[in-house]
Amino acid sequence: MTNEPEQHSAIDPALYFDAHIFVCCNRRPDGHKRGSCAARGSEALRDYMKARVKEAGVPHARVNMAGCLDRCEDGPCLVIYPAGTWYKIETREDVDRIIAEHLLKGGRAEDLRLPDGRSA
Ligand code: FES
Repeated sequence: MTNEPEQHSAIDPALYFDAHIFVCCNRRPDGHKRGSCAARGSEALRDYMKARVKEAGVPHARVNMAGCLDRCEDGPCLVIYPAGTWYKIETREDVDRIIAEHLLKGGRAEDLRLPDGRSA
């Protein structure tokens, strides 16, 4: 057993999606100390992203709603696999930029990224 991060390996099947996007849509009660992404508008942004990804014809991509991704204080947030890139999304313009810069061009919307690395 090692402490190395999980990697996609040659013994694994081909990726089913080129980009699998998980948007946190967790909702906590008002006043909860951690807040929640849904309380900050993530559900509408997820719906918008799903529609825009389809309209833009992004190949082999899927947008899913997710439960809490444990980066609540940084939310609303999403993560794109297999890249493992995390973004904070606050507006439709943020979503448009992630689609254009990450999903269509293969780059990164750098100023929207959450810090890399694990918390522990
Ligand atoms: S509520 Fe969204 S990451 Fe926890």
